[in-house]
Amino acid sequence: MKMYFKLAVCSTLMLACSKKEQAGTPEPGGTTPDTTGLYAHAGFPVGASININLLKNNATYSALVAKEFNSVTPENVMKMDAIQPTQGNFTFGEADYLVSFAKQHGMRVHGHALVWYQAVPGWVTNFTGDSSAWENMLKTHIQTEVAHFKGKVVSWDVVNEAIDEDGTLRKNLWLQHLGPDYIARSFQYAHQADPDALLFYNDYGHEYSSVKRAAIITLVTGMKNRGIPVDGFGMQMHTNTSVPDNAISAAITAVANTGLKVHISELDISLNPNNDQNMTYTAALASVQSQKYQALVKAYNALPAAQKFGITTWDVSDADSWIPPYYHRPDWPLPFDASYKRKAAWQGIVNGLK
Ligand code: XIL
Repeated sequence: MKMYFKLAVCSTLMLACSKKEQAGTPEPGGTTPDTTGLYAHAGFPVGASININLLKNNATYSALVAKEFNSVTPENVMKMDAIQPTQGNFTFGEADYLVSFAKQHGMRVHGHALVWYQAVPGWVTNFTGDSSAWENMLKTHIQTEVAHFKGKVVSWDVVNEAIDEDGTLRKNLWLQHLGPDYIARSFQYAHQADPDALLFYNDYGHEYSSVKRAAIITLVTGMKNRGIPVDGFGMQMHTNTSVPDNAISAAITAVANTGLKVHISELDISLNPNNDQNMTYTAALASVQSQKYQALVKAYNALPAAQKFGITTWDVSDADSWIPPYYHRPDWPLPFDASYKRKAAWQGIVNGLK
Protein backbone atom coordinates (compact mmCIF):
# COMPACT_ATOMS: atom_id res chain seq x y z
CA MET A 1 0.00 0.00 0.00
CA LYS A 2 1.26 3.44 -0.82
CA MET A 3 2.56 5.12 2.32
CA TYR A 4 1.21 8.53 1.33
CA PHE A 5 -2.29 7.10 1.43
CA LYS A 6 -2.16 6.06 5.05
CA LEU A 7 -0.36 9.28 6.00
CA ALA A 8 -2.90 11.40 4.14
CA VAL A 9 -5.76 9.53 5.76
CA CYS A 10 -4.18 9.86 9.19
CA SER A 11 -3.55 13.56 8.88
CA THR A 12 -7.13 14.30 7.87
CA LEU A 13 -8.81 11.67 10.02
CA MET A 14 -7.12 11.63 13.39
CA LEU A 15 -10.10 10.02 15.07
CA ALA A 16 -10.40 7.12 12.65
CA CYS A 17 -6.67 6.48 12.74
CA SER A 18 -6.37 6.53 16.50
CA LYS A 19 -9.23 4.02 16.64
CA LYS A 20 -7.40 1.81 14.18
CA GLU A 21 -4.16 2.06 16.16
CA GLN A 22 -5.90 1.09 19.41
CA ALA A 23 -7.48 -1.86 17.68
CA GLY A 24 -3.97 -3.21 17.07
CA THR A 25 -3.08 -3.38 20.76
CA PRO A 26 -2.58 -7.03 21.79
CA GLU A 27 -4.89 -8.56 24.34
CA PRO A 28 -3.26 -8.84 27.77
CA GLY A 29 -2.83 -12.36 29.08
CA GLY A 30 -3.88 -14.06 25.87
CA THR A 31 -6.91 -15.80 27.38
CA THR A 32 -9.52 -13.11 26.71
CA PRO A 33 -11.25 -13.08 23.33
CA ASP A 34 -9.26 -11.42 20.58
CA THR A 35 -10.89 -8.04 19.99
CA THR A 36 -8.31 -7.00 17.40
CA GLY A 37 -9.67 -6.51 13.90
CA LEU A 38 -8.51 -8.98 11.28
CA TYR A 39 -6.54 -6.35 9.36
CA ALA A 40 -4.49 -5.42 12.44
CA HIS A 41 -2.98 -8.92 12.48
CA ALA A 42 -1.57 -8.43 8.97
CA GLY A 43 1.33 -6.44 7.56
CA PHE A 44 -0.74 -5.70 4.44
CA PRO A 45 -4.32 -4.44 3.86
CA VAL A 46 -7.12 -6.91 4.52
CA GLY A 47 -10.53 -6.21 3.07
CA ALA A 48 -13.86 -7.46 1.81
CA SER A 49 -16.20 -6.71 -1.02
CA ILE A 50 -19.10 -4.69 0.25
CA ASN A 51 -22.80 -5.11 -0.36
CA ILE A 52 -24.12 -1.54 -0.44
CA ASN A 53 -27.62 -2.40 0.80
CA LEU A 54 -26.25 -4.13 3.87
CA LEU A 55 -23.78 -1.33 4.48
CA LYS A 56 -26.64 1.18 4.49
CA ASN A 57 -29.28 -0.84 6.31
CA ASN A 58 -27.65 -3.40 8.59
CA ALA A 59 -25.81 -1.89 11.54
CA THR A 60 -24.28 -5.22 12.59
CA TYR A 61 -22.78 -5.60 9.13
CA SER A 62 -21.41 -2.05 8.89
CA ALA A 63 -19.90 -2.21 12.39
CA LEU A 64 -18.22 -5.52 11.57
CA VAL A 65 -16.79 -4.12 8.32
CA ALA A 66 -15.36 -1.09 10.14
CA LYS A 67 -13.87 -3.23 12.89
CA GLU A 68 -12.35 -6.08 10.90
CA PHE A 69 -11.09 -4.53 7.65
CA ASN A 70 -8.95 -1.65 6.38
CA SER A 71 -9.72 -2.07 2.68
CA VAL A 72 -12.98 -2.32 0.75
CA THR A 73 -13.99 -3.27 -2.78
CA PRO A 74 -17.51 -2.50 -4.01
CA GLU A 75 -19.25 -5.80 -4.79
CA ASN A 76 -21.40 -4.33 -7.57
CA VAL A 77 -21.79 -0.55 -7.41
CA MET A 78 -18.76 0.41 -9.53
CA LYS A 79 -19.61 -2.01 -12.36
CA MET A 80 -20.67 -0.54 -15.68
CA ASP A 81 -24.42 -1.21 -15.35
CA ALA A 82 -24.43 0.57 -11.98
CA ILE A 83 -22.26 3.54 -13.01
CA GLN A 84 -23.64 4.24 -16.52
CA PRO A 85 -27.09 2.59 -16.70
CA THR A 86 -27.99 4.61 -19.79
CA GLN A 87 -25.58 6.29 -22.16
CA GLY A 88 -24.11 9.49 -20.72
CA ASN A 89 -26.05 9.12 -17.45
CA PHE A 90 -23.42 8.49 -14.78
CA THR A 91 -24.82 7.48 -11.38
CA PHE A 92 -22.20 7.59 -8.64
CA GLY A 93 -24.40 7.88 -5.53
CA GLU A 94 -24.07 4.38 -4.13
CA ALA A 95 -20.37 4.15 -4.86
CA ASP A 96 -19.87 7.59 -3.29
CA TYR A 97 -21.61 6.30 -0.15
CA LEU A 98 -19.11 3.46 0.11
CA VAL A 99 -16.18 5.83 -0.53
CA SER A 100 -17.30 8.16 2.25
CA PHE A 101 -17.84 5.24 4.66
CA ALA A 102 -14.31 4.09 3.89
CA LYS A 103 -12.89 7.56 4.41
CA GLN A 104 -14.69 7.92 7.72
CA HIS A 105 -13.12 4.68 8.93
CA GLY A 106 -9.63 5.13 7.48
CA MET A 107 -10.03 2.37 4.90
CA ARG A 108 -8.57 1.96 1.43
CA VAL A 109 -10.96 1.71 -1.55
CA HIS A 110 -10.09 -0.62 -4.42
CA GLY A 111 -12.26 -0.05 -7.53
CA HIS A 112 -13.93 -2.96 -9.33
CA ALA A 113 -14.35 -3.32 -12.33
CA LEU A 114 -14.00 -0.92 -15.25
CA VAL A 115 -14.13 -3.36 -18.18
CA TRP A 116 -15.90 -6.72 -17.90
CA TYR A 117 -18.13 -8.76 -20.13
CA GLN A 118 -20.76 -9.06 -17.39
CA ALA A 119 -22.70 -6.26 -15.69
CA VAL A 120 -22.85 -4.58 -19.10
CA PRO A 121 -25.91 -2.32 -19.40
CA GLY A 122 -28.44 -3.01 -22.14
CA TRP A 123 -27.54 0.11 -24.11
CA VAL A 124 -24.00 -1.25 -24.56
CA THR A 125 -25.16 -4.71 -25.60
CA ASN A 126 -27.38 -3.03 -28.20
CA PHE A 127 -24.84 -0.39 -29.25
CA THR A 128 -24.71 -0.11 -33.02
CA GLY A 129 -21.78 2.28 -33.61
CA ASP A 130 -18.70 1.53 -35.71
CA SER A 131 -15.37 0.63 -34.13
CA SER A 132 -14.41 4.23 -33.45
CA ALA A 133 -17.76 4.83 -31.74
CA TRP A 134 -17.14 1.71 -29.61
CA GLU A 135 -13.64 2.93 -28.77
CA ASN A 136 -14.95 6.32 -27.76
CA MET A 137 -17.67 4.73 -25.64
CA LEU A 138 -15.17 2.52 -23.79
CA LYS A 139 -12.74 5.40 -23.26
CA THR A 140 -15.47 7.76 -22.03
CA HIS A 141 -16.75 5.19 -19.58
CA ILE A 142 -13.33 4.41 -18.13
CA GLN A 143 -12.16 8.00 -17.93
CA THR A 144 -15.39 9.44 -16.50
CA GLU A 145 -15.45 6.81 -13.77
CA VAL A 146 -11.76 6.97 -12.90
CA ALA A 147 -11.75 10.79 -12.92
CA HIS A 148 -14.77 10.90 -10.61
CA PHE A 149 -12.95 8.81 -7.99
CA LYS A 150 -9.47 10.29 -8.51
CA GLY A 151 -7.73 10.66 -5.16
CA LYS A 152 -10.40 8.52 -3.44
CA VAL A 153 -10.02 5.15 -5.12
CA VAL A 154 -6.34 4.20 -4.99
CA SER A 155 -6.44 1.21 -7.34
CA TRP A 156 -8.63 -0.40 -10.00
CA ASP A 157 -9.43 -3.72 -11.52
CA VAL A 158 -9.21 -2.24 -15.01
CA VAL A 159 -10.02 -5.36 -17.00
CA ASN A 160 -11.78 -8.34 -15.43
CA GLU A 161 -11.87 -11.93 -16.74
CA ALA A 162 -10.63 -11.33 -20.29
CA ILE A 163 -8.98 -14.77 -20.60
CA ASP A 164 -11.05 -17.86 -21.27
CA GLU A 165 -10.58 -21.31 -19.74
CA ASP A 166 -8.41 -22.48 -22.64
CA GLY A 167 -6.04 -19.52 -22.37
CA THR A 168 -7.37 -17.64 -25.40
CA LEU A 169 -8.95 -14.22 -25.18
CA ARG A 170 -12.57 -14.48 -24.13
CA LYS A 171 -14.81 -13.87 -27.11
CA ASN A 172 -16.78 -11.07 -25.49
CA LEU A 173 -18.31 -7.92 -26.93
CA TRP A 174 -15.22 -5.83 -26.28
CA LEU A 175 -12.97 -8.20 -28.24
CA GLN A 176 -15.53 -8.45 -30.99
CA HIS A 177 -15.84 -4.70 -31.51
CA LEU A 178 -12.40 -3.46 -30.51
CA GLY A 179 -9.90 -6.24 -31.18
CA PRO A 180 -7.41 -7.82 -28.75
CA ASP A 181 -5.69 -4.60 -27.76
CA TYR A 182 -8.80 -3.27 -26.02
CA ILE A 183 -7.18 -4.63 -22.87
CA ALA A 184 -3.97 -2.58 -23.15
CA ARG A 185 -5.85 0.52 -24.26
CA SER A 186 -8.16 0.24 -21.25
CA PHE A 187 -5.12 0.45 -18.97
CA GLN A 188 -3.83 3.48 -20.90
CA TYR A 189 -7.17 5.25 -20.63
CA ALA A 190 -7.40 4.58 -16.90
CA HIS A 191 -3.84 5.80 -16.38
CA GLN A 192 -4.52 9.02 -18.29
CA ALA A 193 -7.49 9.74 -16.02
CA ASP A 194 -5.57 9.06 -12.77
CA PRO A 195 -1.80 8.61 -13.14
CA ASP A 196 -1.48 7.82 -9.40
CA ALA A 197 -3.92 4.90 -9.36
CA LEU A 198 -2.52 1.37 -9.25
CA LEU A 199 -3.94 -0.68 -12.10
CA PHE A 200 -4.70 -4.42 -11.95
CA TYR A 201 -5.65 -7.17 -14.35
CA ASN A 202 -8.16 -9.32 -12.44
CA ASP A 203 -9.09 -12.93 -13.21
CA TYR A 204 -9.78 -16.35 -11.69
CA GLY A 205 -8.50 -19.88 -12.10
CA HIS A 206 -4.75 -19.42 -11.51
CA GLU A 207 -4.82 -22.14 -8.86
CA TYR A 208 -6.57 -24.85 -10.88
CA SER A 209 -5.50 -24.23 -14.49
CA SER A 210 -1.84 -23.86 -15.40
CA VAL A 211 -2.93 -23.11 -18.98
CA LYS A 212 -5.09 -20.19 -17.96
CA ARG A 213 -2.51 -18.97 -15.45
CA ALA A 214 0.24 -18.98 -18.08
CA ALA A 215 -1.99 -17.04 -20.48
CA ILE A 216 -2.77 -14.44 -17.80
CA ILE A 217 0.91 -14.03 -16.94
CA THR A 218 1.83 -13.73 -20.62
CA LEU A 219 -0.85 -11.11 -21.19
CA VAL A 220 0.16 -8.95 -18.23
CA THR A 221 3.94 -9.23 -18.57
CA GLY A 222 3.57 -8.62 -22.31
CA MET A 223 1.75 -5.36 -21.57
CA LYS A 224 4.29 -4.36 -18.94
CA ASN A 225 7.18 -5.02 -21.34
CA ARG A 226 5.73 -2.68 -23.91
CA GLY A 227 5.19 0.12 -21.44
CA ILE A 228 1.48 -0.32 -20.73
CA PRO A 229 0.70 0.99 -17.22
CA VAL A 230 -0.20 -2.21 -15.37
CA ASP A 231 0.86 -2.66 -11.75
CA GLY A 232 -0.35 -6.08 -10.77
CA PHE A 233 -2.53 -9.12 -10.78
CA GLY A 234 -5.83 -9.63 -9.04
CA MET A 235 -6.08 -13.34 -8.28
CA GLN A 236 -9.77 -13.73 -7.50
CA MET A 237 -9.28 -17.04 -5.67
CA HIS A 238 -12.87 -18.25 -5.60
CA THR A 239 -11.58 -21.57 -4.48
CA ASN A 240 -12.75 -24.58 -2.49
CA THR A 241 -11.53 -27.09 0.05
CA SER A 242 -10.71 -29.73 -2.57
CA VAL A 243 -8.01 -27.60 -4.22
CA PRO A 244 -4.67 -28.73 -2.71
CA ASP A 245 -2.67 -26.23 -0.65
CA ASN A 246 0.37 -26.73 -2.87
CA ALA A 247 -1.64 -25.82 -5.98
CA ILE A 248 -2.70 -22.58 -4.32
CA SER A 249 0.81 -21.71 -3.12
CA ALA A 250 2.33 -22.62 -6.51
CA ALA A 251 -0.15 -20.28 -8.23
CA ILE A 252 0.64 -17.41 -5.86
CA THR A 253 4.38 -17.94 -6.32
CA ALA A 254 4.15 -18.18 -10.12
CA VAL A 255 2.23 -14.92 -10.34
CA ALA A 256 4.55 -13.19 -7.86
CA ASN A 257 7.60 -14.31 -9.86
CA THR A 258 6.67 -11.61 -12.39
CA GLY A 259 7.73 -9.05 -9.77
CA LEU A 260 4.38 -7.25 -10.04
CA LYS A 261 1.92 -6.69 -7.21
CA VAL A 262 -0.41 -9.49 -6.20
CA HIS A 263 -3.90 -8.90 -4.82
CA ILE A 264 -5.90 -11.89 -3.60
CA SER A 265 -8.92 -9.98 -4.76
CA GLU A 266 -12.07 -12.09 -4.27
CA LEU A 267 -11.20 -14.79 -1.78
CA ASP A 268 -13.74 -17.33 -0.66
CA ILE A 269 -13.32 -21.03 0.11
CA SER A 270 -16.38 -23.06 -0.78
CA LEU A 271 -17.24 -26.18 1.20
CA ASN A 272 -19.72 -27.45 -1.36
CA PRO A 273 -18.24 -27.30 -4.88
CA ASN A 274 -20.28 -30.36 -5.89
CA ASN A 275 -23.60 -28.60 -5.22
CA ASP A 276 -24.84 -31.07 -2.61
CA GLN A 277 -28.30 -29.70 -1.84
CA ASN A 278 -28.43 -31.54 1.50
CA MET A 279 -25.08 -30.49 2.91
CA THR A 280 -24.98 -29.06 6.43
CA TYR A 281 -22.22 -27.10 8.12
CA THR A 282 -20.24 -29.16 10.63
CA ALA A 283 -17.28 -28.56 12.94
CA ALA A 284 -15.25 -30.93 10.75
CA LEU A 285 -15.94 -28.85 7.63
CA ALA A 286 -15.19 -25.67 9.56
CA SER A 287 -11.82 -27.07 10.54
CA VAL A 288 -10.89 -28.15 7.00
CA GLN A 289 -11.84 -24.70 5.75
CA SER A 290 -9.82 -23.01 8.48
CA GLN A 291 -6.73 -25.01 7.49
CA LYS A 292 -7.21 -24.01 3.86
CA TYR A 293 -7.49 -20.31 4.74
CA GLN A 294 -4.39 -20.64 6.93
CA ALA A 295 -2.29 -22.30 4.21
CA LEU A 296 -3.34 -19.76 1.60
CA VAL A 297 -2.61 -16.78 3.85
CA LYS A 298 0.74 -18.26 4.88
CA ALA A 299 1.77 -18.67 1.23
CA TYR A 300 0.70 -15.12 0.44
CA ASN A 301 2.38 -13.65 3.49
CA ALA A 302 5.71 -15.13 2.36
CA LEU A 303 5.82 -12.80 -0.68
CA PRO A 304 8.05 -9.72 -0.66
CA ALA A 305 6.32 -6.88 1.22
CA ALA A 306 6.23 -4.57 -1.81
CA GLN A 307 4.23 -7.12 -3.79
CA LYS A 308 1.57 -7.72 -1.13
CA PHE A 309 -1.24 -5.45 -2.22
CA GLY A 310 -3.63 -7.21 0.12
CA ILE A 311 -6.20 -9.91 0.63
CA THR A 312 -9.87 -9.20 -0.01
CA THR A 313 -12.65 -11.67 0.70
CA TRP A 314 -15.65 -11.68 -1.65
CA ASP A 315 -18.41 -10.57 0.70
CA VAL A 316 -18.21 -10.60 4.47
CA SER A 317 -20.24 -13.44 5.95
CA ASP A 318 -21.93 -16.68 4.99
CA ALA A 319 -25.23 -14.76 5.09
CA ASP A 320 -24.22 -12.37 2.31
CA SER A 321 -21.91 -14.56 0.19
CA TRP A 322 -22.71 -14.44 -3.53
CA ILE A 323 -22.18 -18.21 -3.81
CA PRO A 324 -25.45 -19.68 -2.46
CA PRO A 325 -27.74 -17.54 -4.66
CA TYR A 326 -25.45 -17.67 -7.70
CA TYR A 327 -24.84 -21.43 -7.66
CA HIS A 328 -28.15 -22.39 -6.01
CA ARG A 329 -26.64 -24.41 -3.19
CA PRO A 330 -26.00 -24.23 0.53
CA ASP A 331 -22.46 -23.06 1.26
CA TRP A 332 -20.36 -21.40 3.97
CA PRO A 333 -17.36 -19.88 2.18
CA LEU A 334 -16.39 -16.91 4.39
CA PRO A 335 -14.62 -16.20 7.71
CA PHE A 336 -17.82 -14.92 9.40
CA ASP A 337 -20.97 -16.96 9.95
CA ALA A 338 -24.53 -15.99 9.11
CA SER A 339 -24.79 -14.21 12.49
CA TYR A 340 -21.65 -12.19 11.67
CA LYS A 341 -19.62 -14.11 14.25
CA ARG A 342 -16.04 -15.17 13.60
CA LYS A 343 -15.65 -18.74 12.37
CA ALA A 344 -12.70 -21.11 12.64
CA ALA A 345 -11.70 -19.68 9.23
CA TRP A 346 -11.11 -16.30 10.87
CA GLN A 347 -8.63 -17.89 13.23
CA GLY A 348 -7.08 -19.75 10.29
CA ILE A 349 -6.34 -16.42 8.61
CA VAL A 350 -4.77 -15.05 11.80
CA ASN A 351 -2.70 -18.23 12.21
CA GLY A 352 -1.51 -17.93 8.61
CA LEU A 353 -0.17 -14.48 9.40
CA LYS A 354 2.01 -15.65 12.29
C1 XIL B 1 -20.65 -11.04 -8.40
C2 XIL B 1 -21.43 -10.42 -7.29
O1 XIL B 1 -20.94 -10.88 -6.05
C3 XIL B 1 -22.90 -10.75 -7.41
O2 XIL B 1 -23.66 -10.02 -6.46
C4 XIL B 1 -23.39 -10.41 -8.81
O3 XIL B 1 -24.72 -10.85 -8.96
C5 XIL B 1 -22.50 -11.06 -9.87
O4 XIL B 1 -21.16 -10.66 -9.65
N1 XIL B 1 -16.08 -12.39 -10.22
C6 XIL B 1 -16.11 -11.02 -10.14
C7 XIL B 1 -17.16 -10.37 -9.33
O5 XIL B 1 -15.20 -10.36 -10.63
O6 XIL B 1 -17.51 -9.09 -9.82
C8 XIL B 1 -18.40 -11.23 -9.21
O7 XIL B 1 -19.30 -10.59 -8.32
C9 XIL B 1 -18.02 -12.61 -8.74
C10 XIL B 1 -17.10 -13.29 -9.71
